[in-house]
This record gives sequence, C-alpha cells and structure tokens, in this order.
Amino acid sequence: MEYGRKNPFPATIKEAYSLARDDVKETFHYVIDITGSGLEYKAGDSIGLFPRNDPALVDALLVKLGASGDEVVELKRKGEMSFREALESHLTIHRSNRKFLKPLMTKLPSDDQQGLEQLLADRTALDQYLNVRDYIDILNEYPDVHFTAEEFAQSVGGITPRLYSIASAPGVHPGEVHLTIAVVRYHNFERDRAGLATGFIADRVTVGETRILVFIQPTREFVIPENSSHDVIMVGPGTGIAPFRAFLEQRELDGATGRNWLIFGEWFEKTTFFYEEEFTAWQESGLLARLDTAFSRDQSEKVYVQHRLQQAGAEVWEWLEGGAYFYVCGDKDYMAKDVHQALIDIAREHGGLSEEEADYYVNRTLMKEEKRYLRDVY
Ligand SMILES: Cc1cc2nc3c(=O)[nH]c(=O)nc-3n(C[C@H](O)[C@H](O)[C@H](O)COP(=O)(O)OP(=O)(O)OC[C@H]3O[C@@H](n4cnc5c(N)ncnc54)[C@H](O)[C@@H]3O)c2cc1C
Ligand SMILES: NC(=O)c1ccc[n+]([C@@H]2O[C@H](COP(=O)([O-])OP(=O)(O)OC[C@H]3O[C@@H](n4cnc5c(N)ncnc54)[C@H](OP(=O)(O)O)[C@@H]3O)[C@@H](O)[C@H]2O)c1
Repeated sequence: MEYGRKNPFPATIKEAYSLARDDVKETFHYVIDITGSGLEYKAGDSIGLFPRNDPALVDALLVKLGASGDEVVELKRKGEMSFREALESHLTIHRSNRKFLKPLMTKLPSDDQQGLEQLLADRTALDQYLNVRDYIDILNEYPDVHFTAEEFAQSVGGITPRLYSIASAPGVHPGEVHLTIAVVRYHNFERDRAGLATGFIADRVTVGETRILVFIQPTREFVIPENSSHDVIMVGPGTGIAPFRAFLEQRELDGATGRNWLIFGEWFEKTTFFYEEEFTAWQESGLLARLDTAFSRDQSEKVYVQHRLQQAGAEVWEWLEGGAYFYVCGDKDYMAKDVHQALIDIAREHGGLSEEEADYYVNRTLMKEEKRYLRDVY
C-alpha cells in the first residue's frame, strides 16, 4: 500500500538546527529523511505529520483520573488499545475541547451544572475558558468528578495531523523534506506548555532515531508559474519563508528566466535573518533580482513586510503589470490581511485605480481570474 494520510510513512529527522542566533526565537530547520518511502512532492506542497503527546503529561493525567493506563479502551476507527496508548498517540489532551463539557455536566451537582451551562451559552467566554485549560486544569476545578478510562476516551477529541510548508525542492534534496518550524510555547496555571506538534519535534524527537508519521499534502494552487518566464514576488515573514526557499531552489534548477523578488520579515537582522547566507548568495548569483527585509524590532517603530511593499509600490505595480505572480505565506490573522490591503493600496496609488477598481483588481482579476495572487496562510 502506498504511503499517504491513511498510511503515513515512519520517517526520521536526519538534521535539525536553529535558524535563530542567541536563542532569541525557537525557529528550527529540520531535514526529514523520506528515502525508501516512495513519497513524492513538488515546491509548494506541505507535509503532514502526526504528533504524539508528552509522556509526562500522559502520566499526570493518568494520576488525575486515578487510572493505571492498562485499561482497554475502544476508539472509533482505531479499535481496542490500552488507555496509555490512546492518550499518547490518539487523543488530544494538551488542550481542552467543548465536547468534554457535556459528559462533565452530567457528573456535576445542579449548582455547578448551571455555571457550566452559562459558560456553554457564551461563545467568547467558552473559547477563553477552553483556550487556556487542558483536562487536568478542568478536573482540578471539579475534584469530586470521576471519569473512567473508557468515559474519558469517548469524551475528548482525536489528534489531527499538523501541516508544514515544505522548504526544499525535491530535485535539489532527493530523499529529503526540509521544514522551517516555529515552536509554540506558553505558560498557564503554573505549568509550561507547548504546542502538540512543535513541542513533540523540539523536545521529544531524537535525530536519526524517533519515528515520525508523515504524508505529503499536495497543493494544486500554490505552485510556481508553469511558464518560467513569469516574474514572481514572494512575501514570506517568519516561517512563511519556507515555501519560497523551495520555489527559489526549483526556479534555479529549472533555469527559470523570470525574475524573483523576495520580501522577508523577522525580528532582528543580526539574529533572525533565516537562511541569510543562501539568500545573499542567490542575490549575488542573480537568482534573486531583489531581496527586501523588514526587521520589526531593530528600531522603535515596527517595520513589516507590507511597509516594504508600500515603499516599493511603483516597482510592485510595474512587476504586476508585467504579468508577475504574487505569493504570500505565513500568518493568516494579521500579516496576510495587511499585505492584502497594501496590494489594494498599491493598485490605487500606482495603478491609478479607484478604491472599487483596486479592490476588484486584487480580489477578482489577480486572485480569481488570472490566479496570479496565491496564498499559503495559516
Ligand atoms: C498549510 C499550512 C502550512 C503551515 N506551515 C507551517 C510552517 O512552515 N512552519 C510552521 O511553524 N507552522 C506552519 N503551519 C502551522 C502548523 O501547522 C501548526 O499549526 C503549528 O506548528 C502549531 O502546531 P502545534 O501542534 O505545535 O500547536 P497546537 O498544539 O496546535 O497549539 C497551537 C495553538 O496554541 C495556541 N496558543 C499559542 N499561544 C498560546 C497561549 N499563550 N495561551 C494559550 N494558547 C496559546 C494558539 O491559539 C494555537 O491555536 C502551517 C499550517 C498550515 C495549515
Ligand atoms: N496558526 C498558527 O498556529 C500560527 C500562524 C502564524 C504564527 N503563529 C505563531 O507565531 C509564532 C511565530 O510565528 P512565525 O515564526 O511565523 O513569525 P510571526 O510571528 O508571524 O512573525 C514574523 C514577523 O512578522 C511580524 N509581524 C507581526 N505582525 C505583523 C503584521 N500584522 N504584518 C506583517 N508582519 C507582522 C513580526 O513582528 P513582531 O513580532 O515584532 O510584531 C515578525 O517580524 C509561533 O509561535 C507561531 O505559533 C501561529
């Protein structure tokens, strides 16, 4: 059977190093070994991986539940297994879920039930409550409640795979998938916490040893232009840089004649200029016709990628008018929205379009009709 999401390949990490200096940020470059898997990918694709929970958290939860871990539980589509295995590899336990609150309610005295009902009716308060608690925190609030292993297993959600944009071109790194990953860490209720997948990779994976279940998530849209004579503008702050390293490697390999313009943003030039040597070498070789950087914390006022776009508005417009493709990767909630607005402003200011025309040009012409404005945002 071919490897894929339903049958993920047990890969190892063959190399891992920090992309930031002086520990200012936990962003790492990982090289995943996929030799012998038959997995194939192209620049623009993502890799999916199935993380496992922290055994220390599993132990703490077992203690809280008064369970041994040897109990047998049955999970939908996965069948029977020990409770410990379910907690380690199949159930989301590092964050809580509203699904848990219904069975919890049935175990509470009526006063507490009312409080929980009120919480369930208030979406914002509920999100805030769930966002900062795991099941240990919730059970700490209701010390008299008891869940059996089977009840608990049926009351929480499963683990979903995490996606990461691939930072390598397959022809340049055969048998390898490169990734750029920022580790999620925070502190709540006097415990240090980490994102499930990023904590797993950063803290519990031994290079060359630990098996990680992976699959390729291909993209149909986020691809380099088929006709390599088209210019490309790539906006990738933070981990958003990942697919553009792959694009540039691929364009170099293809001998693409179109120009490449990269706009990268991070905190500090000295410590967080990820892949600086590669990018400056590509600038010298001419592969990068233009490289702009926005280091947000090198001065008192924030400088972001959209500011660099606006400053170079005339050239951006000229490139777009010449048929350039425009790519954005990284944070969906803030950065991508601001870059989108910057593009509309540029069309207005430098293209002489009205507010409405500029909006139409970006949202319809570029994005939908010509499919030259492509995003990989998360
Ligand atoms: C197509 C695609 C490509 C992607 N590519 C990349 C990539 O190249 N590199 C990369 O690093 N990521 C990438 N991501 C994001 C990645 O998939 C994960 O979402 C990310 O790594 C976090 O996963 P996690 O399991 O570590 O965190 P999770 O366990 O899923 O936790 C993340 C959650 O933690 C929450 N959180 C953060 N801080 C706090 C806090 N202080 N208090 C409470 N909650 C908090 C956030 O709300 C967030 O929802 C991509 C996502 C997609 C969809
Ligand atoms: N869905 C997700 O899970 C998700 C998505 C994206 C990022 N994140 C979280 O963010 C952390 C780092 O992510 P990352 O490495 O990709 O970097 P990032 O946080 O996106 O930061 C990269 C650069 O973008 C800047 N920035 C902040 N707001 C911006 C805006 N509105 N427009 C343009 N640029 C902006 C940052 O500046 P300043 O920080 O100085 O303001 C920084 O210089 C991770 O811990 C990750 O969990 C999570």
